[in-house]
Amino acid sequence: MNETTPSNRAASRPSTIKLLNRIAGKRPVKVLFVCLGNICRSPAAEGMMRSIVTAEGRDAEWVIDSAGTGNYHVGDLPDRRMRVHARGRGLELTHRCRQVAPSDFDDFDLIIGMDRQNIANLRHAAPSPEAEAKIMSMGELLPASSGYDHVPDPYYEGSEGFELVLDLLEEGCRRLYGIINDDTFA
Ligand code: 4NP
Repeated sequence: MNETTPSNRAASRPSTIKLLNRIAGKRPVKVLFVCLGNICRSPAAEGMMRSIVTAEGRDAEWVIDSAGTGNYHVGDLPDRRMRVHARGRGLELTHRCRQVAPSDFDDFDLIIGMDRQNIANLRHAAPSPEAEAKIMSMGELLPASSGYDHVPDPYYEGSEGFELVLDLLEEGCRRLYGIINDDTFA
C-alpha cells in the first residue's frame, strides 16, 4: 500500500509544512489537484474539496480545479465509474479533462499530486524552483490509520478501487480544510 517502504508511512515533508503554513493565511486558497488522466482521482478530489468548502459556507474563499499530467482524455467528463461512485456520495462531477499547463504554476498556490509518478511529472514540468515548491502529495494529508501514503490509480480496478479513492480523498480533503482554517500545521 505504500509506494516506498512499508514502515515509511505518509509524513509531511518540512517543505510541505512550510508551504501549508504560508498558504493558511492567504485568501483565496488556490488549489489544483493532479493525477495522470484527470478523469478519476483528481476530478473526484476537486468535487470532494468543493463539497466540503461549500458545506462550510467557505466557497468564496477557495479556487479549486484539477488537471492531468497526461493528455489522453482532454475534453472528456470524468470516467463514468467515478461519476457513479461519486454520485453515491452526493458529488456531481462535471469537470472537463485538461492537461497541466505551465500557467498553473502561476495560477495556483498549492498543487497536489495523487501518487509518486504524478509528483515526479509535476516536478519535471515546474518552470522554476518557486513553482516546484508549490507541489505536495495527497499522501502527506492521509492519516496513518488509512495505511496509504498515496491515492492509488483505480483505472484498472473494480468498484472497491473507486470507493477506496473516495475514502482517501475525503480524509485528505478534510485534513487540508482543517489545516487551512486552523492556520497552523506542524
Ligand atoms: P486517473 O486515472 O489518473 O486517476 O485519472 C487514470 C485514467 C486514465 C488512464 C490512467 C489513469 N489512462 O491510462 O488512460
